[in-house]
Amino acid sequence: MAGDSGAFDDLLHEDRRFDPPADFSRDAVAQPEIYTRADRDREAYWADWAAELEWFEPWSTVLEWTPPHAKWFLGGKLNVSHNCLDRHLDGPGRTKPALIWEGEPGDTRTYTYEELHAEVCRFANGLRSLGVGRGDRVTIYLPMIPEAAVAMLACTRIGAIHSVVFGGFSPESLADRNNDASAKVLITADGGWRRGQPIRLKSNADAALERSPTVEKVVVVRRGGTLSDTLGVTMEPGRDVWYHDLLADMPRTCDPESMDAEDTLFILYTSGTTGMPKGVVHTTGGYLTQVAATTKAVFDLKDDDVYWCTADVGWITGHSYIVYGPLANGASVLMYEGAPDTPDQGRFWDICQRYGVTIFYTAPTAIRAFMRWGEQWPAGYDLSALRLLGTVGEPINPEAWMWYHRVIGGERCPIVDTWWQTETGAIMITPLPGVTTTKPGTATRPFPGIEADVLDEKGDPSHAGYLAIMSPWPSMLRTVWGDDQRFRDTYWSKWDGIYFAGDGAKRDDDEYFWILGRVDDVLNVAGHRIGTMEVESALVDHQSVAESAVVGKSHDIKGQAIAAFVTLKDGIEPTDDLMAELRAHVGEKIGAIAKPEMVVFTADLPKTRSGKIMRRLLRDIAEGNAVGDTTTLADPEVVRRLKQKYEEDG
Ligand code: WTA
Repeated sequence: MAGDSGAFDDLLHEDRRFDPPADFSRDAVAQPEIYTRADRDREAYWADWAAELEWFEPWSTVLEWTPPHAKWFLGGKLNVSHNCLDRHLDGPGRTKPALIWEGEPGDTRTYTYEELHAEVCRFANGLRSLGVGRGDRVTIYLPMIPEAAVAMLACTRIGAIHSVVFGGFSPESLADRNNDASAKVLITADGGWRRGQPIRLKSNADAALERSPTVEKVVVVRRGGTLSDTLGVTMEPGRDVWYHDLLADMPRTCDPESMDAEDTLFILYTSGTTGMPKGVVHTTGGYLTQVAATTKAVFDLKDDDVYWCTADVGWITGHSYIVYGPLANGASVLMYEGAPDTPDQGRFWDICQRYGVTIFYTAPTAIRAFMRWGEQWPAGYDLSALRLLGTVGEPINPEAWMWYHRVIGGERCPIVDTWWQTETGAIMITPLPGVTTTKPGTATRPFPGIEADVLDEKGDPSHAGYLAIMSPWPSMLRTVWGDDQRFRDTYWSKWDGIYFAGDGAKRDDDEYFWILGRVDDVLNVAGHRIGTMEVESALVDHQSVAESAVVGKSHDIKGQAIAAFVTLKDGIEPTDDLMAELRAHVGEKIGAIAKPEMVVFTADLPKTRSGKIMRRLLRDIAEGNAVGDTTTLADPEVVRRLKQKYEEDG
């Protein structure tokens, strides 16, 4: 692993330091004493955060830890939608905007807390009328429209378990997720907008439904505007129902289910080291506690903030930091449907200016794209309302950090580089904006109440090695849906009772954590996790392909890009057309985000004598590096020929 981290050694000599501005520190939600409080008694500290939520019944025990299974707030009863909506209704929160939405074509909708509450209740009643109840699984396959948040909250209101599937995933990926979770209902839309093009969600859903036998009912949201006028969809009688028809007569109130702290809240599929993504399971009390705590402390949330996280609700960032964390805190959340370069590359800054965005949370990939597009775009807008910036999803290179600080943050906004994962549910390593001195490129220190370390293979603390979480945290995944063994094997088999995150990391002299990237067969392409095995399975599914090996390759903007080495079946000619066909095939099987950037045809793949593909060598070739040790190869000639071919192909 950390063998390829040579370039990061330079990072550890980063000596630019940025202290929080004095006035920011003075008024900050999180003050330095929060670390001492958490260290003194971690369980009491988390219980204090949990107590900021509203519980129908109190918990009796804070934590029960039988590695690798943790339970938090045992016996406590609460409801997530009640915490995100109802409790803000007594007082000024009632008329405060909860969700401020802008569609890509420029259409807008705003829901106050009162309005959002009513909409969620109506949909929750609608779902109940379709026979959905506690513990049932509901797949949500929607564009970035308000109904995505409404659907999630409506599920939590009635105790149904949602599984949100990113709208860019293919019918096949959607069907796999429906089947793995045995989903009873699917919520989708006629379509959505992305970069001026309609995304045809309902027709994708129809294709998926042909092989999703457990799905009984489909609720279809009308996206509205010109899109719905032009996108004809077919509704299957008895199965499909329009969202607006379903809600038409539904009451605007709905009693929330009293859920156990450890009841499953949602499943979210994420790529791992096998072909089939795993269903990460999150539960109710601990999850909401940590997302609410981190949103408040890391984003320094104040009553008058306009908070914008640019993620998609299809990913964990959208779950925790568009929907649950901010709404649990009664914040005004901005949600945008489309692309950052539509109609032009100033779109995000135009949105920031028009809505007076104060907190902005995005991914390094986006920041690198903004850098490439040029400073003139942000310079054309008034960004003076911004007071805090965040990043997530990948390591941020110091150059991008500095650009973000200078051009977007006007050198006055603290930057919180937040490390966490689908599995951790909430932010784990991060600066506190009023407390921590930041350095470009490091996520700095564990959030108070989180114990992280860098360990070597054996489990001993090390200056460079694997990122480890040493003790349970409230929003940790509880298992993998339907496969507890996979949960144990993936995260808990390296060391005893210690969580293996799958990232390489280093610590510097200030005890700051530098995250180096994945050490398993998971790629991080533009902040999206993609398993090499998933892409390989999609490639060998094509009739012309005999074998394939997929590796990551550095990419200026996306961080990593996918490079595929492909061996064709006997007699098949390697042509440019076939290359395009293979890329398209992966797009159809998984989704556009998984299309390889490059496909290299090769007569052989480098293998050990026991037949294992040596990806390390393929990575060296893809990066154009000197090829490492080949002594264990069955046929070292393969690598020489492949490298030569790769260089010829350019
Ligand atoms: C990477 C996204 C460096 C890391 C919330 C992790 C990061 C994976 C950072 C999880 C960061 C996320 N610095 N790397 N600040 N944040 N990562 O599950 O490799 O989509 O394991 O969750 O993204 O991706 P996931």
